[in-house]
Amino acid sequence: MTAELILGKEISQEIYGELEARIAALKEKGITPGLAVVLVGDDPASQTYVRMKGKMCQELGMHSDTIIMPGSTTQADLLARVDSLNKDPDIHGFLIQLPLPKHIDEQAVINAIDPSKDVDCFHPFNVGRMLVGDPEFLPATPAGVQQLLIRSGIETDGKHVVVVGRSNIVGKPMAAMMMQKAEGANSTVTVVHSRTKDIGSITRQADILIVAMGRAGFITPDMVKEGAVVIDVGTNHIPDPNSKKGTRLVGDVDDNVKEKASAMTPVPGGVGPMTICMLMSNTVHAAERTYERKCSQ
Ligand code: GUN
Repeated sequence: MTAELILGKEISQEIYGELEARIAALKEKGITPGLAVVLVGDDPASQTYVRMKGKMCQELGMHSDTIIMPGSTTQADLLARVDSLNKDPDIHGFLIQLPLPKHIDEQAVINAIDPSKDVDCFHPFNVGRMLVGDPEFLPATPAGVQQLLIRSGIETDGKHVVVVGRSNIVGKPMAAMMMQKAEGANSTVTVVHSRTKDIGSITRQADILIVAMGRAGFITPDMVKEGAVVIDVGTNHIPDPNSKKGTRLVGDVDDNVKEKASAMTPVPGGVGPMTICMLMSNTVHAAERTYERKCSQ
């Protein structure tokens, strides 16, 4: 079997088309959705992500503000910036790009974000709402994975989903979302991680395997059931002397898995483009909610 490719690049374009209509409707009411992104320090990967987020806002005709703060920024300075963004009426959503420098308490900063502007869905209030099945926002990467499944017509109801990885950004919320009574969910979910014994014995039971381990080529064909759907969330830069940059982007899933899977996301061009797309979607949603709140006052 050779896997059908699930192309996030194409599916994200479909969603951007829907967002453009919602943005136009907001602009008619005098509201331009606004996203602010805060970057602390000069991590090159974070710089790239932040640049891409600003560029996408521009393309969609949204307001965007990129705030770059030095790596020496204190926690108090960053909390003061969060406070001013919480109060800024032109900013409907904002995020603090992670990881933060080691001297800053990441969770304390996330906790200071106004939950109504938390378009990353990292604030414990929003994580809790997601868990109880009453979400205001969904975290961008897991939401992107779910949209890939829904829009590719992949049945999730009653299926065994195995999530590989337990990060706060992907693994934990992904597992929580797939077990909900909701469209693109209703699955039986197992989570495996770095401390799990004999990971392959569990991943081989997956109808849908979602991999976010952060290790290049971690999932090999012997770890996958024939005909499984495989979603690769990995973004690993490995050395490649043939590339101009000297590195190449690969996922957590070995390329040969495509001979066993029925459908699979490529890296790049699979989950990657969906993350920014869902962030934009959350920002438009935040702007719509702001308008609704204003109308009901
Ligand atoms: N770093 C890696 N992924 C993310 C993300 O989705 N949001 C933020 N804020 N930082 C990240």
